[in-house]
Amino acid sequence: MDFLDKLVLPQSAEHIQLINYLMIVIFFLFIPYIGILFVSSILSLVYRRRGLKESNPVYVKYASAIIKIPTINKSVGVILGIVPFLTIAFMISQIMHGTSTFILEFLLAAFLLGTAGVILIYTYRYTLDFEGIDQKFKEKLNDEETDEDIKRTSIGNYNLSNKSGLWGVLSLAAALWLLITATTMAINPSLWTADSIYVLTSWKVMVYFFQFLALSAALTGAALLFAFFYWEGGMKVDRELGVLIQKTGLHLTFWGALALPLLMLFSLFSLNTNFLSGGVFTFSVIALVLLLLTYIFVYGIIKDKNIKLSGPVFFLILFTAFALIIKDQMAMSNATEHNAVVMDAQFQQYLLSIRGDRGTAEVNGKEIFDVRCSSCHRFDQRLVGPSYKDVLPKYEGKADQLVGFILNPDKVNPEFPPMPNPGLKPNEAKAVAEYIMQAYKK
Ligand code: HEC
Repeated sequence: MDFLDKLVLPQSAEHIQLINYLMIVIFFLFIPYIGILFVSSILSLVYRRRGLKESNPVYVKYASAIIKIPTINKSVGVILGIVPFLTIAFMISQIMHGTSTFILEFLLAAFLLGTAGVILIYTYRYTLDFEGIDQKFKEKLNDEETDEDIKRTSIGNYNLSNKSGLWGVLSLAAALWLLITATTMAINPSLWTADSIYVLTSWKVMVYFFQFLALSAALTGAALLFAFFYWEGGMKVDRELGVLIQKTGLHLTFWGALALPLLMLFSLFSLNTNFLSGGVFTFSVIALVLLLLTYIFVYGIIKDKNIKLSGPVFFLILFTAFALIIKDQMAMSNATEHNAVVMDAQFQQYLLSIRGDRGTAEVNGKEIFDVRCSSCHRFDQRLVGPSYKDVLPKYEGKADQLVGFILNPDKVNPEFPPMPNPGLKPNEAKAVAEYIMQAYKK
């Protein structure tokens, strides 16, 4: 799968920053949609099965009513359910360029399985529509031959619904697991060099998967209440069906929202403390406050039987989702910052090489420092690399050693990551060495 990684060019630091922002936008659109699609498909399958087994028509009706909410029409499925898998794959492979050997396979498999999952779930939904139609036909055309035909297609349709629903949910589950694994890797550099089975079954991935599930359950519950009882004054449904939707909606929202704080805490624990910035904490706290408000409104629905509160509940959980996405995206951008700097250095090198001005004009030490070193080094401050004031004194009178280090950096200080080879020519290394040796004393 190397060819995919080769599609990705090293990018400038500004570019990577932009990708980080774009990723937040894509996740905003994607996570709520795919979460609601996933949980409502499971719910619909479970209730359909129970309904058919116990001959309970309310359950069967419920199964087809709730799957219609996230599968409003096909373009929504493609735009919000399939395209983001590909977009996210490109973005994560860009920011993780050169760090792991299998992350691209994971992302590609997630895209394929996700596409299959969404298509199968849509198939399931349309077969349920058909189930209602064949009954009506039977009543209208009362002749034996068509009756036989209808019976046969109904059985075919029945089998298709069962299979497509089940396989749809399973493929989507696998796709989401892979995608969450890739995202968890981007947040945890300790997983970059681990092997693929270890990563796939790591507890850190599980924590993020369950965080996603709890969020999706809460969102689905709230979306059902919102769609059936709030949006445009609510839908007309039979009383029994209405009671069931309200009950399951409230349960999902309540339990999902209750599990979230604990899972958020675990996800913070799973992070390397170096990547816990103020922003990560701020957005965790915002999410907690929003959840607290959610509990209050859910309580209002239960106690005062005021179903109109489902509007605010839905938006509160949606905003909680946004806060969680920003929190995780910030952690990801912190964790991949070092890789971004390495890519930026490669990018500058690439830029110089396509400009074709390497080694031709006379070499200028300061220019090389500005372009090739300053992303990681300052003279009096630690960045990715050490401050020059700390490390250069030991090279006084040993210019050759310094040039040697720049041409071929060894590992020196365990507190720092190794310095990537800047790929300079000997005369360039000499020029920059001379420049930094006299500049650090100023
Ligand atoms: C991608 C980041 C990065 C870039 C770009 C970079 N360095 Fe470094 N540099 C580091 C890191 C990290 C260390 C610490 C390495 C260690 O201690 O093993 C380091 C260490 C050093 C040291 C100290 C070596 C020692 O003996 O302690 C010097 C000198 C140095 N770099 C010079 C340069 C010069 C000159 C350039 C530009 C041509 C440059 N670096 C570009 C990251 C970078």
